[in-house]
Amino acid sequence: MAIGYVSDFSGMEHFAVIQSIVRAARNGDREGLERQISRLRDRLEKGGAVKEAAALRRLEGAETEAQDLVPSKVEISRAMVSGETLTRDVNPPMDRETGAQLCTIDFGSAELAVPIYGDAMGLTVDGLLQEWGNEAALRRVGVEPTRSLLIYGPPGSGKTVTAHYIAARLRLPLVTARIDGLISSFLGTTARNIANLFDFANRYACILLLDEFDALAKLRDDAQEIGEIKRVVNSLLQNLDRRRERGITIAITNHDRLLDPAVWRRFEAQMRIGEPEAVARERMIARFLLPIQAEPSTVRIFSYCLAGRSGADIERLCANVKRHLALGGDAHDGPGLFRALSAVLARAPAQAGAPARILATDPEAFVSLIANDADIGLKQTEIGEATGYGQSRISDLKKARRHAGLMEQAHG
Ligand SMILES: Nc1ncnc2c1ncn2[C@@H]1O[C@H](COP(=O)(O)OP(=O)(O)OP(=O)(O)O)[C@@H](O)[C@H]1O
Ligand SMILES: [Mg+2]
Repeated sequence: MAIGYVSDFSGMEHFAVIQSIVRAARNGDREGLERQISRLRDRLEKGGAVKEAAALRRLEGAETEAQDLVPSKVEISRAMVSGETLTRDVNPPMDRETGAQLCTIDFGSAELAVPIYGDAMGLTVDGLLQEWGNEAALRRVGVEPTRSLLIYGPPGSGKTVTAHYIAARLRLPLVTARIDGLISSFLGTTARNIANLFDFANRYACILLLDEFDALAKLRDDAQEIGEIKRVVNSLLQNLDRRRERGITIAITNHDRLLDPAVWRRFEAQMRIGEPEAVARERMIARFLLPIQAEPSTVRIFSYCLAGRSGADIERLCANVKRHLALGGDAHDGPGLFRALSAVLARAPAQAGAPARILATDPEAFVSLIANDADIGLKQTEIGEATGYGQSRISDLKKARRHAGLMEQAHG
């Protein structure tokens, strides 16, 4: 795969690495393959073949993206999910008084993208998928696979997306209920709704998703009849316990602290998704800017401005940048993206951090900021490539420390 890019240089010089690449590829050794490819890239870079090294990096990026879109199926054992096959002509259960559906049924879509996580989260999700795919191996050592998962974290962090992703990997339909949809104004009906929902989920092979689970906690303040609320919570807990033999349940909440410890304990696995860290943020930006292929230096600048933002925020912002580019007629390159980012941030500077605010108000001061900030890790040439400023202008801005006053304002 890499051969086309090195043939212009001394092919012999890199032959040993190419050989290792071929060997790793033939052996299906993914890790080895990636290690060898990055070795080749380093050598190309050191040898001055900067463009070729960059091309290789883009190829890798493209490959990771492509992989992201084709989740392989995890073969879940039948013992994990009993029940009839849920088909599109099965009607979801309804609230008898209002006729409202108690859940929605999602059969998954082929285009579902893999959520982007930091390392720890990615390992947790993969670990669960592995458990579900190797249930027999677990049983041989006397442990049961996890069957209930609580996902918590701030809005827009990818909780719902994660539940859909898990269902897609297992090729199971996702039966989604909102607790507030189950709560009937006819108090006596709520417990019956919960029972009907669980009966439905237990009857079919599916994953049950209880989204916005914290409505359960709110229930305690809203309803007047203490006895009735207790009954509802208890019926939910009993249903959760009974479902354990039947299938997988995922619950989602924004406000982990609102949940009763008794509820919390019901879930064998708990997973927090927060705002993405730098690496995850960069992967999100690169993905959400597609089909525009942003250079790493541009992605780094976006990431620098979007620290602390949620995945949903980053997605929205990238979409706005693309809108701006598409309608404004600016080039779809580093400088074009830089100007579009500045314009988009200027429109919505409200909760932005200091770098984003500086870019929104004064792009030259921003260039001065990143030229002086070792943390962003961009060489002056890369800053030029990503912003369109000439090298001497960047040097001047760097020396003038144009950002200093604005930083003080931002922190003051
Ligand atoms: N980790 C992530 N990976 C990929 N996309 C993400 C991620 N986090 C958020 N997104 C994007 O943001 C959008 C919102 O994500 P999602 O609905 O899963 O958030 P949530 O955590 O369920 O939020 P809420 O608490 O508001 O329901 C998704 O459509 C997705 O495109
Ligand atoms: Mg959600």
